[in-house]
Amino acid sequence: MKRFKNKIVIVTGAGSGIGRSTALRLDSEGADLLILDKNQDQLSETKMMLKNKNSSEHVVDISSVSGTKEFFKDLKAKHNRLDALINIAGILRFDNSHEVSLDDWNKILNINLTGTFFMCSHAIPMLLESKGAIVNVSSTAALGAHAWTAAYSASKGGISAFSKTLAVEYGMQGLNINCVCPASIETPMSTNPKMPKDIDIRLLKKIMPLDGVNRTPDDIASTIAFLASDDAIHINGIDLRVDGGLLT
Ligand SMILES: NC(=O)c1ccc[n+]([C@@H]2O[C@H](COP(=O)([O-])OP(=O)(O)OC[C@H]3O[C@@H](n4cnc5c(N)ncnc54)[C@H](O)[C@@H]3O)[C@@H](O)[C@H]2O)c1
Repeated sequence: MKRFKNKIVIVTGAGSGIGRSTALRLDSEGADLLILDKNQDQLSETKMMLKNKNSSEHVVDISSVSGTKEFFKDLKAKHNRLDALINIAGILRFDNSHEVSLDDWNKILNINLTGTFFMCSHAIPMLLESKGAIVNVSSTAALGAHAWTAAYSASKGGISAFSKTLAVEYGMQGLNINCVCPASIETPMSTNPKMPKDIDIRLLKKIMPLDGVNRTPDDIASTIAFLASDDAIHINGIDLRVDGGLLT
């Protein structure tokens, strides 16, 4: 299956976890990728794994006004075309909600939500030309209640709401914008996270899939690839849960 042959696709957060798996999946389907991450070493590791030599790596902090602007200026100069934008980069931390510091609140909102806004704003003019797609990675935390994630849940709820606004505003012009809402995927983000002291472990059960099995980033990459492809041409403005039935 080569759904992305001759298509130019941006993947953020490509240095790790779901972002790396998505880059590899799209590479196997023929995409010319622009992979982004703030972590140079991890990003270069992903780049080494890609078969398509037209693909390129870009160290960009998605929460930076100047960094994202500069990246799109270069993209326009080099390709002047974009077929899909996939926003995966994000951060998470667990705190008792009344103890979240302003610095942490701002950092999580700036990267997860404002970073997604920056990337979409710059990409939309080019995506309207190509009648392309945006896939934003949200979370089940946007749709159900997860303890200790006040800032993260607010950021992901923001991504889901923001994405639906884009979907109605640009859908009639042929641009599809959807969210994927994963849960319980084994990545560096979710492995042995630092938890607040003295948590009530009964609340942990509320963030487990029905079969109790954690899945791999590949199980999200396949869904992202579907939503970014022409196979999903009639899908716009959804939150697609990939959560093993967690919120069912
Ligand atoms: N793992 C899960 O169970 C799970 C569940 C729901 C949602 N998600 C979401 O999936 C996405 C990917 O998560 P993951 O589990 O693969 O995590 P991860 O930590 O393995 O990967 C996140 C990547 O984002 C990059 N990144 C962070 N801040 C950045 C910034 N400012 N600019 C550019 N790059 C930045 C990191 O360097 C890293 O490579 C996140 O948005 C996360 O919220 C993950």
